[in-house]
Amino acid sequence: MMYRLKRIGVIRTPYSESAPHQPIEDDEGEFRIVLDPEYVEGLRDLGAFRYIHVIYYMHKLNRSVSMAVCPPWAGGKKVSLFASRSPARPNPIGLSIVRLKGIADNTIFTSGLDVIDGTPLLDIKPYIKDLDSRFDAGDGWINRTNGAGAGEIEKKIKRP
Ligand SMILES: C[S@@+](CC[C@H](N)C(=O)[O-])C[C@H]1O[C@@H](n2cnc3c(N)ncnc32)[C@H](O)[C@@H]1O
Repeated sequence: MMYRLKRIGVIRTPYSESAPHQPIEDDEGEFRIVLDPEYVEGLRDLGAFRYIHVIYYMHKLNRSVSMAVCPPWAGGKKVSLFASRSPARPNPIGLSIVRLKGIADNTIFTSGLDVIDGTPLLDIKPYIKDLDSRFDAGDGWINRTNGAGAGEIEKKIKRP
């Protein structure tokens, strides 16, 4: 079965060739989401939120999809694809949680996003404290790695 998705805007970042593995909240440069003007009314109440989920299509992916991957913070171990945040997936859809810094017309200014400049935007949703935070969430296999593996993820992700 195939389904079609619509690009609803474009993500602008300072990363032309490669991007960080996860968002770096205070990375240098401007990070903005430019929504196609026809959807601007849909932004009206978004400014009430501090964080947003950004959902996008990793359109420049040229790696083959494998069910076992080596994430950078797995200490060289292989983990299964769906237990990873690897971009090389059957549907290369990415999800980033970023701080909403401001909205001007159809442009949303955010903290650092981990995507290449020009990445097609699929959706935006508010990050809602009571819905999206789980006090008992763990780090899965990341707990089982040592040294640089676990430390790496802590450095790269500034959690909301
Ligand atoms: C590991 S993925 C994580 C994405 C998202 N935070 C997630 O967890 O779903 C981030 C990587 O995707 C790759 N990437 C970002 N934008 C891309 C694009 N438009 N096309 C292809 N690869 C992209 C970059 O290599 C970046 O390091």
